[in-house]
Amino acid sequence: MSVIMTGAAGQFITPLSLEVASRNKVYTSLFDAPMAHIDLPAKADVMVIAPATANIIAKFANGIADDLLSTCLLSYQGSVVIAPSMNWKMYENKVLQENLGKIRARGVLQVGPEKGPLACGEEGPGRLSETADIVEAVRMAVTKKDLSGKKILVTAGPTREYIDPVRFISNRSSGKMGYALAMAARDRGAEVTLVSGPSSLKTPLGVRFVSVETSEEMLDAVTSETGDDTTLLIMAAAVADFKPGERASAKLEKSENVSVTLHKADDIISHITGRSNRPFVIGFAAETGNNVDRAEKKMQKKNMDMIVFNDVSEPGAGFEVDTNRVVIIDRKGRTATELLSKDSVADMVLDRFLENSP
Ligand code: PMT
Repeated sequence: MSVIMTGAAGQFITPLSLEVASRNKVYTSLFDAPMAHIDLPAKADVMVIAPATANIIAKFANGIADDLLSTCLLSYQGSVVIAPSMNWKMYENKVLQENLGKIRARGVLQVGPEKGPLACGEEGPGRLSETADIVEAVRMAVTKKDLSGKKILVTAGPTREYIDPVRFISNRSSGKMGYALAMAARDRGAEVTLVSGPSSLKTPLGVRFVSVETSEEMLDAVTSETGDDTTLLIMAAAVADFKPGERASAKLEKSENVSVTLHKADDIISHITGRSNRPFVIGFAAETGNNVDRAEKKMQKKNMDMIVFNDVSEPGAGFEVDTNRVVIIDRKGRTATELLSKDSVADMVLDRFLENSP
């Protein structure tokens, strides 16, 4: 990693601090090295400007090259990520917005700013994004776009099936597996819609997000969001298999025993696989125990193209954790993975989809 600091940046932090953090020389002037403005960009996979001031945005939008950073931006031919940060009145200024529009139209990825308290004591949009969001944008910028042109719908998280207005039946799904799939597909260039049940995870950048609560809402969202041009549906959500026959309109009184009759919930996947013009469909099978055969039968019964088996009783796999161990089953065979991060499992599932798709 090479760091370039402008004169203004040097007022806030010393080059030495960034030299220590990056373990690399920090460049501050056009004349630090004879060809720094050509050589530094030539070596970079991505250029990240964080924080990006109104000044550097204006220079970049209009091709002004009067210091090392602006000159490097002009000679750079790869992906650029900018994280603006400034006073909210400056951010909302028409000229600034026009400049941002210009550079976004040229393919620059903008992350933030966030709304909130600003250094000047005022509140509004202008806070530098969280580091995790900037890292997410960098991941998007550097990933090979082997899914570009594909429209992918991913479901994630649990559903809630209400007994009365305050009580519901749900499950342990956190949404981590589905969100990892949505983010991996987005990074690889797909146009992604994420239909999510209740989850505490942050809405991923750059995906269309549809929030649902019950299995009925998830069914409505999946059937309406799956168009003729949808390439792939991935059902990673833990959708209810059973739901209370009726939802009481008022909170049920406490009594000794309450019986709730559960009825079979509508199967969402079957609504899509029953269509004549249908996308490639990948389901997940949450099993307790090594029931890979049962997962394969689910795939056949619901006419899916692929199913991802995970044994949710195994430590480190399934619900809530950041890792998973799966068996990916398609019509050609089975692939068992090691215990991997959910990000890696997501990439493997998408690789397998690409091998299977025409
Ligand atoms: O969210 P995490 O905490 O990261 O956990 C991940 C996970 C364990 C939830 C995920 O990896 C997973 O296994 N998801 C599917 C859970 C599930 O519902 O499995 P199932 O075997 O009951 O269902 C098989 C398939 O049918 C699933 O793709 C499911 O989305 C789908 N289904 C289920 C019920 C229903 N009414 N309609 C459906 O379409």
